[in-house]
Amino acid sequence: MTDTWQVLLDSSTLRGHLVEDARIGLTAAEKWLPPKYFYDDLGSDLFDQITRLPEYYPTRAEQGLLDKYADEIAAVAGAEMLLELGSGSSEKTRVLLDALDRTGHLVGYSPVDVSAGALRAAVAGLRADYPTLPVHATIADFDVHLDELPAPGSRMIAFLGSTLGNYPPEQRAVFLSGLAQSMHAGETLLLGLDLVKEPARLVAAYDDAAGVTAEFNRNVLRVLNRELNADFDPDRFAHVARWDPEQEWIQMRLRATEQMQVQLADLGLTVTFARGEEIRTEISAKFRRDRIAAELREAGLTCEHWWTDDDYALTLARRLDG
Ligand code: SAH
Ligand code: TRP
Repeated sequence: MTDTWQVLLDSSTLRGHLVEDARIGLTAAEKWLPPKYFYDDLGSDLFDQITRLPEYYPTRAEQGLLDKYADEIAAVAGAEMLLELGSGSSEKTRVLLDALDRTGHLVGYSPVDVSAGALRAAVAGLRADYPTLPVHATIADFDVHLDELPAPGSRMIAFLGSTLGNYPPEQRAVFLSGLAQSMHAGETLLLGLDLVKEPARLVAAYDDAAGVTAEFNRNVLRVLNRELNADFDPDRFAHVARWDPEQEWIQMRLRATEQMQVQLADLGLTVTFARGEEIRTEISAKFRRDRIAAELREAGLTCEHWWTDDDYALTLARRLDG
């Protein structure tokens, strides 16, 4: 079986978005950078290392729930296709593919990711272990391309890793309603969500002792250096991860350890940092059952199932009409 590939996002378009976003974010009164630029080849590799850190419990928790409930999920979803958003290494997906295959209805797997390198490695790994499974890989930005994603049969759309939590609430609502609009009646969304818990465990998961998350966070500066001819010195930015008890999210930032000027040559832009000034790079919102069920309902999806170990949850929501 050969794989098919679809490129909805080429690297020059992605760079174009980066040019715009970097100019807006780095000239704002409170500097910020959008998260999707973390995941170049090195970033995807660092994220993979994060998933194996002792402090980073979400991946193991999600894998545990998938191991335990995959057959039940496959039975209630009743899908012919698994489409996965932000599929990364597709490691955890395997147990879902196995369960869907056992239902006898599975006709293919469609991973979607912005990171071409991660997608290539994932597809090569799947090809070795699932020689007869049709795989249709799509390089796309799920902020832009939801309406163009493949739908050759009734789908379960998996969005794992609590990646939904990396959107701030307003963008999350826009994303969820766009996703719901792109779904056909009867199709389902399987969401993996990290839950609100003691702050100490949350903070440790985003500020590990080995410093891998810090490297991952600083990697966005290396992406800017390479793509925009910038001269950030990543060593002069400290990784910051704070729990915000009002918003119930982890806020990641990069803090300038000294006063400095950074040139972004391709933008003709010089950015000044005061000592201690921070760039907001990412949030990771934590969820509660009632709230996410209400958000899904607002978007046009009906929450039908909730599986949890109290640290983490999988929820299956369905588009009933449409
Ligand atoms: N699902 C995997 C990976 C999660 S990390 C897991 O649970 O371990 C988030 C993934 O989403 C990365 O692979 C990243 O490249 C991808 N991603 C982030 N923003 C994206 C966007 N806007 N469009 C498409 N993929 C995106
Ligand atoms: N979706 C993951 C999460 O929120 C992504 C992630 C893990 C992440 N560690 C990170 C994003 C560190 C930025 C920085 O848990």
